Amino acid sequence: MTHTPREQWGTRLGFVFAAVGSAVGLGNMWRFSYLTAENGGAAFLLLYVAIVLVVGLPVLLAELVIGRGSNKSPIAALVHYGGPAWAPLGGIFVGCGFLILAYYSVISGWTLRYALMAASGGFGSDPEALFGEIATGPAAIAWHLGFMGLTTLVVQRGVRGGIERATLVLMPLLFVVVCGIAVYAATLEGSGAGYAYYLSPDFRGIWSWKVFSDAASQAFFSLSLGMGAMLTYASYLTDDHDLPEESLLVALSDFGVAFVAGLAVFPVIFALGLSQAVGESTIGALFITLPSAFNQMGTAGVLVGGVFFVALAVAALTSAISLLEVVVASAIDGLGWTRRRAALVGGGAVAALGIAPALSLGALDWMDKIAGNVLLVAGGLALSIFVGWVMPDPMGEVARGTHGVRWFFLWRWLLRVPVPLVLAVILYATITSLFP
Ligand code: TRP
Repeated sequence: MTHTPREQWGTRLGFVFAAVGSAVGLGNMWRFSYLTAENGGAAFLLLYVAIVLVVGLPVLLAELVIGRGSNKSPIAALVHYGGPAWAPLGGIFVGCGFLILAYYSVISGWTLRYALMAASGGFGSDPEALFGEIATGPAAIAWHLGFMGLTTLVVQRGVRGGIERATLVLMPLLFVVVCGIAVYAATLEGSGAGYAYYLSPDFRGIWSWKVFSDAASQAFFSLSLGMGAMLTYASYLTDDHDLPEESLLVALSDFGVAFVAGLAVFPVIFALGLSQAVGESTIGALFITLPSAFNQMGTAGVLVGGVFFVALAVAALTSAISLLEVVVASAIDGLGWTRRRAALVGGGAVAALGIAPALSLGALDWMDKIAGNVLLVAGGLALSIFVGWVMPDPMGEVARGTHGVRWFFLWRWLLRVPVPLVLAVILYATITSLFP
């Protein structure tokens, strides 16, 4: 067998950009704002921050440590440290990548479609009917296929020439655009109610399992955790990276963009008197309410709206790349395929699977619940146990490339006891509520 050396990131910041690109996506805008709306605003935001710090950050670092330590894609990496008994978990990760990308790509297709609508002058007179047309059926399938084509193209070009190149340009662009829209939202009359809803907490509503389950699932989804995506990106790293520092950077950037996106979305919605839509928030809310709002703002609104949807599509692309990379890297390592073949077959399979959520919003919602609320949380639980109890020397591995910080024991302790406990309880509650 010929052995091509494993790919590596080209620049020091390449990995951080790509990891932030993976984390920042539809999750930060679409999923974050609809879940925050559905679960009561500011109190949910605080709960979410707490879960990111206590659970998300340790699991993120765990994935990076496994990935860099083994220099392998998920299945092989788990077997490397834990033996063949852990292979099925890696298999679930890859399956989860298929499942998430299939519906993620459908939603990404909507954002492309909305961007095009804005460019052609507006979002129509009836955004709700428009969403109905766009969300499912032949149009949804076509845009989903287009988006998957784009994703496959980038992944096919490899880690350095495709993924790193794309994220290095797209991420700063996205950040500027989201900040710009947040500033614009602040100038709207009546935006104050939006800030109040988003920023002044009312804790009465959050003491339910559903809210905890949504917060945990959102933390995993937004940080791209629980299915080996961050693990895979870290497998292209060299030993001189300070993983704790970089994980913190990724988590902060991810939260920063979600927070600023909220500063854009809520004031816009409230300023235009559309707040009742927040109460009855669903998957489609962002895609109905925001276009209505942009419409009402006239030409400037349509322009801002167009830029917003382009930014969303960009964010979605750099995330979709990371989802497909898990599948592709696994096929390269496990089946000995070329990158080109792995990308075409993997991308094609995901494209086919995405037809289902492109035909039915119910299927899309269901896939998001199974993958987001169940599989990712279960994956995080397994990963924390793996690094906390199974992996031979996680402390030695995490310390490599750092300046010898001594709080690593805290990280391992979190992974050993509190994280698995919290996740097990949340998982149990989620499963019993999904399948009563
Ligand atoms: N984090 C991305 C977002 O917020 C989505 C994503 C990319 C993802 N890779 C992932 C979610 C891996 C879960 C697992 O949109």
